[in-house]
Amino acid sequence: MAGRLAAMSGKGGSGKTTLAALVLRRLLHLGVRPILAVDADPNATLGLALGAPVEDTIADLRDRLGEAALEPSAVPKERLLDKWLAELLVEAPGFDLLTMGRPEGPKCYCYVNGLLRRYLKELRGNYAALVVDCEAGMEYLSRLTVDDIDTLVLVAEETAVGLASARRIGHLAERLPIRVRRRVLVRNKTGLAEAAVSDHPSAVSLARADAVIRVPFDAGLYRRCAAGEPIDAAFAAESAAPATRAAVAALADLCRGKE
Ligand SMILES: Nc1ncnc2c1ncn2[C@@H]1O[C@H](COP(=O)(O)OP(=O)(O)O)[C@@H](O)[C@H]1O
Ligand SMILES: [Mg+2]
Repeated sequence: MAGRLAAMSGKGGSGKTTLAALVLRRLLHLGVRPILAVDADPNATLGLALGAPVEDTIADLRDRLGEAALEPSAVPKERLLDKWLAELLVEAPGFDLLTMGRPEGPKCYCYVNGLLRRYLKELRGNYAALVVDCEAGMEYLSRLTVDDIDTLVLVAEETAVGLASARRIGHLAERLPIRVRRRVLVRNKTGLAEAAVSDHPSAVSLARADAVIRVPFDAGLYRRCAAGEPIDAAFAAESAAPATRAAVAALADLCRGKE
């Protein structure tokens, strides 16, 4: 059976990568493994957040395979792709990380994209869960990898602009050829501007969220990320603020299909 997939989307800076890392750590803590972490943001930082160094991306592989496709060779392209894809996965305790890199430019990669799509679909069957850190609009993701999302997490800063963006991304997702089972709105970094954005029921209904989670602004978390230190298992389980951990636990439960 294909692993359960949670996709973090939202405006740049809203907290997608941070929450992807925290949710992944929480799922591992609960014994959900192996997990595939997918960095589908061209501005890739999930490896940094998880402390898993990335060398190659799907974009590099696509380039290489595109060149190989032009050369006559005894090795079938499918076999090459298999081998390169395996080399591309960063292995860490409990999870693997796949980094997409930049989307393709004007060159046509239809053939290679077709192969990739098929392989990434197969890959999904090897994992208990997948956590995907998306770019804001998610078009790249839908084109290449995923057409079936169990939990779409709309991450929004607790500001009028943040919530408006979450709404817009929610609408965009509806126009993509992806199936979404459940939507969760995360109001992130709460407590910073409580007076400015009061409870806003329309934000929730307009984002058409099935659930809402509030994650407080956590100064320790902010400092850790600012210093470039990863969100490792110990930090996620012990050092993040208790309110942050409670919110992440609730979000991880939604992501693994528990109410
Ligand atoms: N709940 C939070 N508390 C404190 N800082 C946060 C929180 N969530 C995210 N941040 C900080 O906000 C910034 C942007 O987060 P990031 O996860 O990189 O956003 P995105 O991936 O959406 O661009 C980072 O400096 C991160 O440390
Ligand atoms: Mg990010």
